[in-house]
Amino acid sequence: MDKKATKQSKIKLDPIKRVKYEGANWNEPEDDYTQHFYEQNLSQFWRPEDVSLQPDLNVWSVLPENIQDAYAKNLLVLTFLDTHQGDIGMPVVSRSLDDHFHQRKAVLNFMGAMENAVHAKSYSNIFMTYMSNQKIDELFHWGEKHTNLQNIMSLIVGYYKELDRYNYLKQFESNDPGYSETDFNIAQFKAMVASVYLETWLFYSGFYYPLFFYGQGKLMQAGEIINLILRDESIHGLYVGRLAQEVFETFSNELQEQLTQWVHDFLLELYHEQNELVESIYDAVELSHDVKIFVRYNANKALMNLGFDPYFEPEDVNPVVLNGLNTETKTMDNFSMKGNGYQKMKSEMLKDSDFVFDREKIITFGGKK
Ligand SMILES: [Fe+2]
Ligand SMILES: [Fe+2]
Repeated sequence: MDKKATKQSKIKLDPIKRVKYEGANWNEPEDDYTQHFYEQNLSQFWRPEDVSLQPDLNVWSVLPENIQDAYAKNLLVLTFLDTHQGDIGMPVVSRSLDDHFHQRKAVLNFMGAMENAVHAKSYSNIFMTYMSNQKIDELFHWGEKHTNLQNIMSLIVGYYKELDRYNYLKQFESNDPGYSETDFNIAQFKAMVASVYLETWLFYSGFYYPLFFYGQGKLMQAGEIINLILRDESIHGLYVGRLAQEVFETFSNELQEQLTQWVHDFLLELYHEQNELVESIYDAVELSHDVKIFVRYNANKALMNLGFDPYFEPEDVNPVVLNGLNTETKTMDNFSMKGNGYQKMKSEMLKDSDFVFDREKIITFGGKK
């Protein structure tokens, strides 16, 4: 038997690693909030194809190129974030919870399934409706080469991978003298903070431009999709934030102080990258200043979900965008049902007249009012 095979069989048969398997018993709540999040998540379930994007085409097709470009690049950033939140972010946090937390794991796994399979897919549907294959390819290449976007992904996914490593160590190497339960919990806390920064801060900052249009009654179908995603990310950030607070409370005062410093250092690191990313997208439409205010606004929200005080001074956010966050067609109270602006898609055959656009009626977007 070769060395590799010996090691594999040792892991399988090691009696210390034997566990008693149990089933998820939903008759016994694991805590007083997870089953509420479960209900809310499932009541919000939707599919990318529920919202038809065709009605947006008459507006999109006459937008100036610099505005189309900024809109698409912004959604591409959201695509990258959702992709990795689904591929590793939610699954790794779920796996890090103790084995008996079957309900918590189920909620996180459901959230993880939404990220890529529904949210990232929806952004692709928008690209496929609005853009040519060549333009879509160029857009994805832009993201793959964008230094700030890549740095943001490395920072966030780096903490996920570190927790992935610790999940393995806890499972198979916990008797090793180099392993410590506190180190595991620190890695878990850091990954949860990264997750909340992604959900409540980075995602929300990316909702600025679609809401900017939606608030003015333009690209409404894409706006409906954003509303559905926004509602999901809202409860994702709240839930993981709550789990992070539980972990944080187990730490000594000294460790809490050190980690509070880290929370702020990490925030500033991401903030620096985000500011440059914002400039690279929004300078062309003269909105960088406004978007950066929204970035700081959402950073404070993320900190509050994690149980920390706001870091940035309060500022006035663009009322058009705030209005987009607060309309009655959405559910920002986190525990109500689907928004009343949401309807399942009713499809009909396209007609030639669908492609006749009245240019007079199209308002030009951008920083100039
Ligand atoms: Fe998502
Ligand atoms: Fe999410």
